[in-house]
Amino acid sequence: MRQLWLLLYLAMVTLGSAAAQTQAAPLKTNGDVWWKHAVIYEVYPRSFQDTNGDGLGDIKGITQRLSYLKSLGIDAIWITPMYPSPQVDFGYDIADYEAIDPQYGSMGDFDNLMKAAKQQGIRVIMDMVMNHTSDQNPWFLESRSSRTNPKRDWYIWREGKDGGPPNNWQSWFGHSAWTLDPKTGQYYYHYFYVQQPDLNWRNPEVRKAMYDVMRFWLDKGVAGFRIDAVSRLFEDPNLHDDPILPGTNAFGDPNIEHKYTDNLPEVHDVLKELRKLVDSYPGNPVVISEADEPNILELSKMYGTNNDEVQLPMDFQIADVNELSATKFRKLFDEVENNPAHGWPEYFFSNHDQARQWDRYGDGKHNDQIAKLMAALLLLPRATPQMYYGEEIGMRTTVPTRVEDVRDPVGVTGWPKDKGRDGERTPMQWTAARPNAGFTSPTAKPWLPVPPSSVTYNTEVESKDPNSILNFYKQLLVLRRTEPALKSGAWVTINPDDPNVFSFLRHYLGNGRSVLVALNMSDKPQMVTYDLTAQGVQSGIGLMLLNSYGYEQKTIRMDHMTIPPFGTAVIGVK
Ligand code: NOJ
Repeated sequence: MRQLWLLLYLAMVTLGSAAAQTQAAPLKTNGDVWWKHAVIYEVYPRSFQDTNGDGLGDIKGITQRLSYLKSLGIDAIWITPMYPSPQVDFGYDIADYEAIDPQYGSMGDFDNLMKAAKQQGIRVIMDMVMNHTSDQNPWFLESRSSRTNPKRDWYIWREGKDGGPPNNWQSWFGHSAWTLDPKTGQYYYHYFYVQQPDLNWRNPEVRKAMYDVMRFWLDKGVAGFRIDAVSRLFEDPNLHDDPILPGTNAFGDPNIEHKYTDNLPEVHDVLKELRKLVDSYPGNPVVISEADEPNILELSKMYGTNNDEVQLPMDFQIADVNELSATKFRKLFDEVENNPAHGWPEYFFSNHDQARQWDRYGDGKHNDQIAKLMAALLLLPRATPQMYYGEEIGMRTTVPTRVEDVRDPVGVTGWPKDKGRDGERTPMQWTAARPNAGFTSPTAKPWLPVPPSSVTYNTEVESKDPNSILNFYKQLLVLRRTEPALKSGAWVTINPDDPNVFSFLRHYLGNGRSVLVALNMSDKPQMVTYDLTAQGVQSGIGLMLLNSYGYEQKTIRMDHMTIPPFGTAVIGVK
């Protein structure tokens, strides 16, 4: 039977089909490694669960909530930085890479978390910030102490030019990327905040120090790393000015193209070294890269020419689509699923730097329906999905209304055009209790306010409502685990010209059913017709596995199907 399916499939691929599909190329990465099928859940520790009433989340809180995560159905957590830090960039400014910030607990708490996570079958992925350190890191304190300090060359120090900075490079967070250090009279380079000096990755000692850090955490059993700002590791040693673009940004600076500070070829040498290091550990640890690659070719390079760099480069092209558009999503998903490196994709729609998907795609009327649709789009393609805490309950972005309430420094510099990232970092909503939704004790002041919507959007209330966003996520996650097509089915887009309904098939080549996913991205009911004979689907009747609109019959006609506004249908076909 399996052979028959294979023959059918080969015939189909050879003959092509009536303009109804795009078939993803086979993968070069062999083996059924865990990270291909894992669902990764991003925990922002500051906002997840507070156990000591100081209004900040902590490691014990994460441990306490592991059973929730297990029941949700996720496989791994990525925890944003918990290392000692002045917290200018809420942990992305690291003062000590081999310790835990007392705000979040102790190394003992971390070891307990690792133990408990292992018992629950949940892997732990650490955030690794390699591009820069805190200006309070002893490495930088030494480096800035004199021009002749042995660690001087660990950072990027240059002479000023014409009474100003060495060139026109700009910080991502506004204004010049160079800061003059009066003590030694030179400028240091920082792609991000002034308090985040960039390391010099051309210095072998820096590389060694950072690889030692990674070994430290791998020895503790972590399952891999999410590498921060990876495309920014190197800058042009000749300090060419970046090209100026028209207009100004939120900080009032001229727009520039980060041509000489992004994606320099040397990044790939580091990624290869890093991958070798990670591969020398058992259990297939994973490297996930954070880099907003501008197009599929740059993204594809992240995998390495021989799949010897990053296993999972995060896809920002998709995450950055700011409208619900079947045409845009189809084009981008198709591109990534067919990427030239044949690498395994990684998707997300929300994270701690990006407004939450509930309101980014929501139209103000159907947000819950749309949240369910986005959940299916995240969880059902042939990829590793990355969820952000609270998206499973429809948490919304709660942007500060007054500049004096802003905690994220970029929101102060950019106010009012850029209000910073506090909105997507508010505390997790566990219960209906006001004012703190079970995140911290009712009398504590959480570091960011809990919005009033937490009364209805929380895990306690939603777990009792069969139609909640939370229960939809859970059902999707069960399907992901139990449907072989969702585990190993190929990716085929269906009805490629439909401007409203994004449909894709997880084409199962084994002896079993394929799964069709239909997402109506419009505010009108849509009538769709599916002819899947080219995919070997003979029956005109599909089995309704899950839908978001209360369709109660078990079967559905494939040639005449009406999907309500923003409806999601997941259908088994044979
Ligand atoms: C990306 C992180 O996600 C973001 O939060 C941080 O501000 C920058 N990198 C700098 O580390």
